[in-house]
Amino acid sequence: MRDTIQFLVNGEPARIDLGPGSPWRPTTTVLQYLRAHPEYRGVKEGCAEGDCGACTVVLAEDGTDGALQYRAVDSCLLFLPTLHRKNLITIEGLRATDGALHPVQDAIVRHSGSQCGFCTPGIVMSLFALYHTAGVIGRHDVIDALAGNLCRCTGYRPVVDAALDSCAARGPDHFSAAEPGVLRALGAIPSDDMLIETETQAYCRPATLAFALRYRSIKPEAIIVNGATDVALRVTKRHEQLASVLDLSGIAELRSLRVSPAAIDAGAGVTIEELRRVATGRIPALAEMLSVFGSRQIRNVATLGGNLGTGSPIGDTLPVLLALEATVSVSGPRGERAVPIQDFFTGYRSTACAPDEIIVAVHIPIPPQGTDVRAIKVSRRKELDISTVSAAMRLRTTGNGSVDEIVLAYGGMAATPQRASATEAFLSGKPWSRSTVEAAMDAVANDFAPLTDVRGSAQYRTLIARNVLLKFWAATDGKEGAAS
Ligand SMILES: Cc1cc2nc3c(=O)[nH]c(=O)nc-3n(C[C@H](O)[C@H](O)[C@H](O)COP(=O)(O)OP(=O)(O)OC[C@H]3O[C@@H](n4cnc5c(N)ncnc54)[C@H](O)[C@@H]3O)c2cc1C
Ligand code: FES
Ligand code: FES
Repeated sequence: MRDTIQFLVNGEPARIDLGPGSPWRPTTTVLQYLRAHPEYRGVKEGCAEGDCGACTVVLAEDGTDGALQYRAVDSCLLFLPTLHRKNLITIEGLRATDGALHPVQDAIVRHSGSQCGFCTPGIVMSLFALYHTAGVIGRHDVIDALAGNLCRCTGYRPVVDAALDSCAARGPDHFSAAEPGVLRALGAIPSDDMLIETETQAYCRPATLAFALRYRSIKPEAIIVNGATDVALRVTKRHEQLASVLDLSGIAELRSLRVSPAAIDAGAGVTIEELRRVATGRIPALAEMLSVFGSRQIRNVATLGGNLGTGSPIGDTLPVLLALEATVSVSGPRGERAVPIQDFFTGYRSTACAPDEIIVAVHIPIPPQGTDVRAIKVSRRKELDISTVSAAMRLRTTGNGSVDEIVLAYGGMAATPQRASATEAFLSGKPWSRSTVEAAMDAVANDFAPLTDVRGSAQYRTLIARNVLLKFWAATDGKEGAAS
């Protein structure tokens, strides 16, 4: 059992002892660690909650195809053990050994993409990860890659120009040449179970699900983390110490992703970005919802299991999973069981996953031909914002245009994500027409009694819930039978 992490920083071997007497806690963030080292202070702290991207670094690790996969991440939300078996690339590592700027840095200079410079290291790291992304890179990709990077003074036009310029003429850089050596060095680091026990904290990062389940049964009080995009805020914002943590991010079994014509079967540790990619072209409504989930840095670490595990009524995957009638698999000492998604949420931030169980996978049916599924997220701004109300709707009509089957799933309207059951019953068998839908809008208002909070009043939420139903009708009317 190890309490030392081994990784690379800019290709050079590094290790951190996290056991008793270490100056670092297992819940020290990568940003706190880097800022404590003068040689890595290019990285900046803006918000410490994943909103500004000033702390962006890149993690490179062995991808499924035996090549390095580069991911931009917010270092303010990453706990140190996450670095195990990865190459941590910081802004200091971008120049070549002869001092030449990386093509991305060079383009930022040429296009005057920086003024005060506070955001610049984070922006450059996001663009560096984009530079190492396969495929043709267009304006939309650049904007998506930058959605998690806030710049208050330069303005984005020169940054976008620099990104398009550097990515248009992409060629091998000094990272490409170093790749075989980095892969060898990462491969030589054992992926064994990690257990760190100090006077104040116990942090377990198993390498196998079997070990995680054993640990869970003896320590049900341990807080589970996977991407930690939700839990890390308890450390960075509320200054909690987290006495006991079970970190699932080292378990390969939880990252499995299987696709068949009928379904996507995703392990709980699959990231939102991985799921977005696989849903693209298969379940467009899910892919669309995930493309406005946080930012690229958040999606690169946040997991599907974590989104379900929060039990939050505004988790963005949840209305879509309800509309698709997904099934959640949980595992514990009594074995594995499948819970239909509509039974998974038992109350405000509580789920059917028992204290000694772990969410292990989600079965997501692909809608058959003739079924139309749409998803809508309503938030104050399009990118990097939490939903006020979200909705996903599924429709199948009969040959004469009547509603054969309808599911209306809403987030942000109740203590849990919920279906508008009375409205569904009202619409069943009726013509899918504007007049029926307008009558159904009153039924939606009766299906929910939403709360007023900082994101919106009860009245505003009710208005949105009514209007998204009309929007759904407008998107589907006249396209009877079109699969989403
Ligand atoms: C800047 C920012 C933007 C965000 N934007 C969005 C957004 O647009 N939409 C949205 O829905 N969310 C958003 N979130 C919230 C968060 O990123 C998501 O809920 C994410 O899916 C959580 O996944 P994670 O792996 O990081 O969870 P973690 O923080 O690791 O865990 C979250 C919770 O789930 C539990 N958990 C995790 N994995 C399991 C498991 N396998 N079994 C049982 N319990 C488990 C944990 O105990 C914890 O209670 C945002 C967060 C931040 C910081
Ligand atoms: S410091 Fe703002 S995202 Fe990390
Ligand atoms: S250059 Fe000043 S914040 Fe972006």
